[in-house]
Amino acid sequence: MRRMRRLRKPGLRRIVAETRVSADDLIMPLFVDERLKRPIKIESMPGQNRHSLESLAKEVEELEELGVPAVILFGLPEKKDEVGSGAYDPQGVVQRAAERIKETTSKVIVIADLCLCEYTSHGHCGLIKNQEVANDETLPLLGKAAVSQARAGADVVAPSGMMDHMVAAIRGALDDEGFTDTPILSYAAKYASSFYGPFREAAESGYSFGDRSGYQMDPANALEALWEVRLDIEEGADMIMVKPAMPYLDIVRMVKDEFGMPTAAYQVSGEYSMIMAAAERGWIDGEKAMGEALTSIKRAGADMILTYYAKKFARKAHG
Ligand code: PBG
Repeated sequence: MRRMRRLRKPGLRRIVAETRVSADDLIMPLFVDERLKRPIKIESMPGQNRHSLESLAKEVEELEELGVPAVILFGLPEKKDEVGSGAYDPQGVVQRAAERIKETTSKVIVIADLCLCEYTSHGHCGLIKNQEVANDETLPLLGKAAVSQARAGADVVAPSGMMDHMVAAIRGALDDEGFTDTPILSYAAKYASSFYGPFREAAESGYSFGDRSGYQMDPANALEALWEVRLDIEEGADMIMVKPAMPYLDIVRMVKDEFGMPTAAYQVSGEYSMIMAAAERGWIDGEKAMGEALTSIKRAGADMILTYYAKKFARKAHG
């Protein structure tokens, strides 16, 4: 008689485990606000801070010591305008942050989130024409932003605005300026998700009208995700992302099986804050839920996970 329970004893369970999450798999999202002198707490994301340029550099040093291999930067500019100029200003907040990090830390990979939404007064991910996000007019601005980020020291650029043809525009702009070796991590299959709620407080990137369903994907669609990813790969994406992660594990698996590319999944703010909120109330074991969630995302096929738990997980792994 086959007894599946034989291998479920503590020591055996460990050696037959199929999936292991390591700090090496994790990318820590960080918020940097150029108006701040010291970090402030993000109320909607317990345990996360909005950093000043100085506290950000220190945080990255700590992450390096804990063995977290990469960070992704989100900027909060002093001023926003209609055309999101902060995104491509050589002295913009993410550009200054990348420069500052590179002064003190050598090994941590700096990924720059590349989008206009944190820099536009209306909060949308592109230029507005006739009350709509104008795709093609936005593309050159994304190219400019990528070049300024690479010039400031960003190791990877990560376009998150879901504009059609954005990867090609960015690849072309980077190559024209000699940044042929700067990889693109494309937010290829990004859904119009309510799980981004806490992020919009963290990054002050709420929008003043409409919503993002005109450019982000419908949660109902899976085959469309394969198209989105295929197009981004054809346009030159080096790594591709599915976002959010846990409600979209089927998409992570499909994308990994179909393309076999380096695949990232973003465990977004709402996924994080749901666990934190339930744990605060004593309804679930927060640490175990963290481990289980990350394991599930990796098991579904993610090679890397963008997660607000990166530091906590690495600290736990560190002992
Ligand atoms: C914006 C962007 C968003 C997130 C990352 N980049 C918000 C959005 O698209 O509305 C969400 C991340 C999170 O919720 O943790 N381009």
